[in-house]
Amino acid sequence: MAEKYHIVTYGCQMNVHESEKIAGILHRLGYEETDTNENADIIVFNTCCIRENAENHAFGNIGALKKLKKQKPNLLIAVGGCMTQEKGKTDVLKKKFPFIDIMFGTLNLEELETLIKRKKTQKKRVIEIRETEGEIIEFPDAYRTSYPNAWVNIMYGCNNFCSYCIVPYVRGRERSRKPEHILAEVQGLVKEGYKEITLLGQNVNSYGSDGKTGTTFAELLDMVASIEGDFRLRFMTSHPKDFNEDVVKVMEKHRKICRLVHLPVQSGSNAVLKAMNRRYTREKYLDEIHMLKSRLPEAEVTTDIIVGFPGETEEDYLDTESLVKEVDYASAFTFVYSPRQGTKAAEMENRIPEEVQKDRIMRLVELVNTLTRRKSEKYLGKTVEILCEDYDAKKGLYLGRDEFGRMGYFSSNTNVIGKFIALKITKANGISLYGEVVSVKD
Ligand code: SAH
Ligand code: SF4
Ligand code: F3S
Repeated sequence: MAEKYHIVTYGCQMNVHESEKIAGILHRLGYEETDTNENADIIVFNTCCIRENAENHAFGNIGALKKLKKQKPNLLIAVGGCMTQEKGKTDVLKKKFPFIDIMFGTLNLEELETLIKRKKTQKKRVIEIRETEGEIIEFPDAYRTSYPNAWVNIMYGCNNFCSYCIVPYVRGRERSRKPEHILAEVQGLVKEGYKEITLLGQNVNSYGSDGKTGTTFAELLDMVASIEGDFRLRFMTSHPKDFNEDVVKVMEKHRKICRLVHLPVQSGSNAVLKAMNRRYTREKYLDEIHMLKSRLPEAEVTTDIIVGFPGETEEDYLDTESLVKEVDYASAFTFVYSPRQGTKAAEMENRIPEEVQKDRIMRLVELVNTLTRRKSEKYLGKTVEILCEDYDAKKGLYLGRDEFGRMGYFSSNTNVIGKFIALKITKANGISLYGEVVSVKD
């Protein structure tokens, strides 16, 4: 019987896709998937360190394995991802969890195969974290688990050094994949029947700005959208300092590109944006939204917001509220600022008390929910196109998303996963929609 693996993933889409690459490596080594720790012969933690609670989560779950490891001494425990790449964290992990067998970083993911083989022949644990980024290593064998959706990296790393953010320290400098590699991957996925492709990067708009690819993001987007086939195309994340009209023109040209832009604003106050080193102003951000909506009136925008950044006054916070209302976001991810060691903001003295942070996040969540609910109600009676992506056994309903990321549920007698459904919306419940199938596209 084949040995089994279980991967535990924390963090962003980038990590979710990297777990698919890790799964690809494990399949190559002959492992098969299981979804419990108890049945696994190897457990891989793909960690995140964007905020303190992401780290605490991983610490808790790794710690909980102590007993299992005692019962099953041959069980391999591997830890990778952004946390192991954080300065000093490997030592903390080593000390805290002596039962970890393998540690690898984000910058040497491709070495995991060798590291596992090495661990199998030696007693000593194997720790290999690369300090600096090298050339991009192409991974042909990601084991994808998200059909009909597929993620495709167009670049790695980040050069922006927003003052609160740890990503540039744990992901290295920006590197762009060659357009021919990206195109070949997307062509392959479309041929295999994937129906939604998301291009991934920390700041997709600066694709190619290292001058090595000879291609801008708008040009790349145009090329990918020109690939024949019935699929949707998304991209994330856009950075407001670089988002531009060229990209919107390409969106106009291709109906396949979803009319949804994820454009993290972080704050509506110019003073806070400056302290965050975001390198745009509220006014520039709003100009971009107007440019987008004047070319594509149906376009929707989603965002990320941080409250309680050092020095944020009540007035600054209210600027964020007014911006949220003005943009009228389709949805927003909202976070309380979490100091990350080694970043500029962690050294700032004017910290905001926890109760003030809590109060602000609660008010902001309430505002965002009100906007989202109001948008849901507008769907009532309309027919929208949903890409069916799963079956919810508890609800007994199929589910999928429209191009704006709205979840729609419906019943069907046949399996329609991977099909585009015209859905007439009969009920809008907070953020979820419910409807009746009008037609199924083959
Ligand atoms: N590259 C993307 C997203 C990076 S991380 C971008 O530039 O927008 C995703 C989100 O996490 C960020 O947009 C930000 O809102 C949030 N985030 C990052 N560091 C954080 C911190 N120290 N505390 C709280 N939220 C943080
Ligand atoms: Fe972090 Fe800023 Fe880079 Fe996004 S752009 S990953 S927030 S440093
Ligand atoms: Fe993503 Fe977390 Fe790393 S948000 S890039 S997995 S720190």
